Amino acid sequence: MGAMAIRVVLSLALVCMLIAVAQAQLSFNFYNSSCPNVEQIVRQAVSLKISQTFVTIPATLRLFFHDCFVQGCDASVMIASPSGDAEKDSEDNLSLAGDGFDTVVKAKQAVEAQCPGKVSCADILTIAARDVVVLAGGPYFAVELGRRDGLISKASLVAGNLPGPNFNLSQLNTMFAKNNLTQTDMIALSGAHTVGFSHCNRFANRLYNFSATSKVDPSLDPNYAKKLMDLCPQNVDPRVAVDMDPVSPKKMDNVYYQNLQNHKGLFTSDQVLYTDPLSQATVSGFANDRNRFNKAFVAAMVRLGRVGVKTGVVGEIRKDCTTFN
Ligand code: HEM
Ligand SMILES: *[C@@H]1O[C@H](CO)[C@@H](O)[C@H](O)[C@H]1NC(C)=O
Ligand SMILES: *[C@@H]1O[C@H](CO)[C@@H](O)[C@H](O)[C@H]1NC(C)=O
Ligand SMILES: *[C@@H]1O[C@H](CO)[C@@H](O)[C@H](O)[C@H]1NC(C)=O
Ligand SMILES: *[C@@H]1O[C@H](CO)[C@@H](O)[C@H](O)[C@H]1NC(C)=O
Ligand SMILES: *[C@@H]1O[C@H](CO)[C@@H](O)[C@H](O)[C@H]1NC(C)=O
Repeated sequence: MGAMAIRVVLSLALVCMLIAVAQAQLSFNFYNSSCPNVEQIVRQAVSLKISQTFVTIPATLRLFFHDCFVQGCDASVMIASPSGDAEKDSEDNLSLAGDGFDTVVKAKQAVEAQCPGKVSCADILTIAARDVVVLAGGPYFAVELGRRDGLISKASLVAGNLPGPNFNLSQLNTMFAKNNLTQTDMIALSGAHTVGFSHCNRFANRLYNFSATSKVDPSLDPNYAKKLMDLCPQNVDPRVAVDMDPVSPKKMDNVYYQNLQNHKGLFTSDQVLYTDPLSQATVSGFANDRNRFNKAFVAAMVRLGRVGVKTGVVGEIRKDCTTFN
């Protein structure tokens, strides 16, 4: 082969590689030909599940967040483990409501019935998370698709990758920055706490043993603190959970930020967003303007959905979301 021919072959190879890289990206119409109705199918399964239990909404939204922050949005959180050492077995598992997992399993079954082996569990979870936002009264947004399912799920990989309810602003920012999310993204995504429940042990320190000088966290409204003490007495059954948004717990709205202005943030990590001068203006902006919050939330959800994604030939399309192929 002459030098010219070699050069042609090499540049053809380069073009092929570039195309492969270009294809290995998320896109809005990824399943356009392989499963054109996927979003409708998922939406139907999610709606049915919500009609059975409201918990579907917060559980699915939180499941998406936890999946994406641990090894990327790759459905690694979905893997069941007979030996008790998968991602879902980590300490945080107790509070991941089973209805989130069930939503994805049901939606996957419905999708497989029409387009077997085509749609990843990671994408189904992404679509379902969008759908629960919409079905709770939040904004609609188009989701990018084309994720592949991961091949690893380990409880030990969760440690240090999820934020804690006692985090301060700089700790929150550091953890979100590791996932390519800005402080504004972090504040907007925290608005997910406008729906759903928390177990008492996640904030009991703010009620009973806050500091040497004050038993109750002084950044907590005293009447709200009193109400929380009634709901969560010391030595309460650990299964008891309370609404995270005491005003409109079932609606995806911007009341969460108004609660923060009124010192009714449930976790330290919620209230600090208003208490800390570095983030207060953003909180007030979202509290005063629902549309502004909606826009920021949508942008942040799309960016969350890009975290650590596997595309192209990496990973697999799982047949059953709870086990590797
Ligand atoms: C900013 C840092 C965050 C912290 C420290 C945090 C922490 C927590 C904690 C401790 C709970 C209560 C779990 C329980 O006891 O049951 C919770 C619940 C929840 N979180 Fe977060 N979270 C954060 C961000 C997010 C994000 C980004 C989302 C989604 C976009 C989210 C969605 C939810 C939802 C929907 C629930 C309610 C779950 C249910 O009712 O089943 N959180 N979060
Ligand atoms: C998706 O497929 C439909 C027909 O199934 C076609 O009309 C449309 O142009 C396609 N869109 C893209 C972006 O490929
Ligand atoms: C959570 O994990 C612990 C052990 O880490 C296990 O004992 C418990 O059964 C798990 N809970 C759920 C709901 O999976
Ligand atoms: C936030 O917490 C970290 C770790 O505990 C600590 O080092 C830092 O000083 C805290 N920052 C603020 C502003 O309180
Ligand atoms: C209260 O907090 C202190 C340290 O802040 C700790 O030593 C003590 O054990 C805590 N008491 C209870 C009842 O949790
Ligand atoms: C963050 O973005 C950079 C640049 O686009 C990318 O290389 C990196 O993988 C992303 N990190 C995560 C956790 O998604």
